[in-house]
Amino acid sequence: MDINLLLKKLTIEEKIGQLLQLSPFHFIRDIEVEVFGHLKELGLTEKKVFSAGSVLGIHNAAEMISVQEKYLRKSTHQIPLVFMADIIHGYETIFPVPLALSTSWNPKLAFDMARVSAIEASTAGIHVTFSPMADLSRDPRWGRVVEGFGEDPYLNALFTKEMVKGYQQDDISQDGNVASCVKHFAAYGAAEGGRDYNTVDVSRLSLHNYYLKGYKAAIDAGAKLIMTSFNVLDGIPATINKHLLRGVLRDLWKFDGLTITDYDSLHQVVPHGNAENDEEAALKGIIAGLDIEMASTCYINYLKKLIENHEVDIKLLDEAVLRVLKLKEEIGLFDNPYKGASVELESTLVRSNDHLEISKKVAHESVVLLKNENLLPLSTHKKYALIGPYAETRNTNGPWSWHGKNELNHTLKETLLEKNISMTFVKQVVRVEDLTKEDLIELKNVDAVILALGENERESGEAHSKVDIKLPRNQEEFVEFFRQAGLDSIVLLYHGRPFDLSNIMDAKAILDVYYLGSMANDAIADILTGVINPSGKITMSYPRHVGQIPIYYNHLNTGRPKIEGDRNEYVSYYLDELNTPLFPFGFGLSYSKFSYQNLRLSQFEMSLNEEISLFIDVQNETEIGGFETVQLYIRDYVATISRPVKELKGFQKIWFAPHQRRVVEFVINKSLLSYLDDQGNEVIEPGRFQLMVGSSSIELTSLDIILKKEEVNDFKK
Ligand code: BGC
Repeated sequence: MDINLLLKKLTIEEKIGQLLQLSPFHFIRDIEVEVFGHLKELGLTEKKVFSAGSVLGIHNAAEMISVQEKYLRKSTHQIPLVFMADIIHGYETIFPVPLALSTSWNPKLAFDMARVSAIEASTAGIHVTFSPMADLSRDPRWGRVVEGFGEDPYLNALFTKEMVKGYQQDDISQDGNVASCVKHFAAYGAAEGGRDYNTVDVSRLSLHNYYLKGYKAAIDAGAKLIMTSFNVLDGIPATINKHLLRGVLRDLWKFDGLTITDYDSLHQVVPHGNAENDEEAALKGIIAGLDIEMASTCYINYLKKLIENHEVDIKLLDEAVLRVLKLKEEIGLFDNPYKGASVELESTLVRSNDHLEISKKVAHESVVLLKNENLLPLSTHKKYALIGPYAETRNTNGPWSWHGKNELNHTLKETLLEKNISMTFVKQVVRVEDLTKEDLIELKNVDAVILALGENERESGEAHSKVDIKLPRNQEEFVEFFRQAGLDSIVLLYHGRPFDLSNIMDAKAILDVYYLGSMANDAIADILTGVINPSGKITMSYPRHVGQIPIYYNHLNTGRPKIEGDRNEYVSYYLDELNTPLFPFGFGLSYSKFSYQNLRLSQFEMSLNEEISLFIDVQNETEIGGFETVQLYIRDYVATISRPVKELKGFQKIWFAPHQRRVVEFVINKSLLSYLDDQGNEVIEPGRFQLMVGSSSIELTSLDIILKKEEVNDFKK
């Protein structure tokens, strides 16, 4: 298809239509179009609906086929619709929520998850997924931390990159591949107070060094689209922010794909106070470089008038439309408007046993053991009780799993019984008082209690922010009750955000199980029984108190840092709480124990184009084989801008057989020593750097190296 020629044939209305994205029901209910209230409110007529370029949120192949057929019957130029949807952590085979997945420290699993998601979604006729979410967040109050990969820019970038590669592979025209739309550009995760949709106010330095890295990695991996965020940045909503959409995306990053609003976010620049009305919103959007408008109707209703009044150059419209046509061409829609959709395949391939097996493997690595005083793994010789609000839950899919079917998931009781664990008492209760006298008598016969605690699926995700990130009081009371009764408890946490766990530290074991998807309780049973040795490490700091937020490991030093043991009062600290988190970034236990010794370097000084090798001996001290993630952090002591006390720069997740000792090597080169200035340019400055290696962001041993001073120009890349 010659899309330039096609563009020339389109009327101005038809061009603008390509920039409109509507939901399937707009097309399905076309008979009532003129009278249906919602459409009227949006100023939509049947003609406008049937000029739209794309669809949001298709349910299955049959629906896709019928919408496309109906659309093409009415379309003058036979330009097919492109179907987009939110496939976030699986289509019907649901995988761990992204926050859990990131605790695996195994980005390859993100690729595997994206592959299965793409294969399944493609059979429903979905061509584009609104994933990955690359929003970095340092605030567990924000409900959408569940959709992201944690607080670290490096880890975030690795995961987003693998997601894009998994969705698209090398060719989005192939059945089984879908195009990736990375979101929400930019810095949506820095919402003030953790309240969703709230103001964002971050410096350009922080943007480039932390918040933008994930989107950039996705684009470098070839993501075809990018979605703008709901928030303002520098006082201008991201959706009409020219600096972001043209300056950063097009000029700095050379992105040539499509930009798309978030749901209704072009219209929302009116309540933001940046446009008088939808007409002005349309004007600002097209000038800023915004292509597709999702769910609102500023372009379709006003762009024509703006062009006719010479307020907008038609070239801007043409550029945007050409990008839409190019995507359709790349997907192959002009050859086959039903690309991928197959009712037959859908019924055999979706949620197949093979896919469920992959999901279970991913879930195995997405669990974090936070505490274990010799209670885990469970023993087949002991008797256990399983109690709590989630004791019999099947709702393990988590937010954004709209095609997933919780009712098909197993309960923990079912999966543990299969493993011959004696569960003599199982009761789903929300508070201690729900346990009857008879229950308490029965409980005298058990050796330990498994408490299934947490938050329900609707308590995290979009628009689900919280000010209190403790467990509800009635849940904490279970731990206190059983401690007083002299019974050990093992807490399982089903949740979507870091909690303040300070009130349940009396539990003898704590296992973070998040929402692990279709095979959650199968994977949890494998971990609880020791079939699988846990290997996850948390990717967000778990605070001691909500008042410490934002709390993140890669913070600056301040001019008056708190030094443990030093009694100076005029330093950066709290009167009533420590600075440190309860559980630090990178922390997670295993049934094995690892020791780190003998950190050494190939040389202590390097010039710009040299590399240094850093070695450490890591030993599995136990009889149990297991994975350990060996982490490398670097500190730049002195630079033009103040640099964090440590930054993750590398890691290796390695299998250790019982008692195995390995030499682990990291290669240090200039790219690990650089940072970005406030324009996004890479800067390297000579001087002393600290290299730290260990099993979490606080359990580290370190050595210093010197990057030698050379000609100044050598350091400007
Ligand atoms: C969310 C996006 C999502 C979009 C379309 C919005 O409310 O913020 O993440 O992709 O809806 O469903």
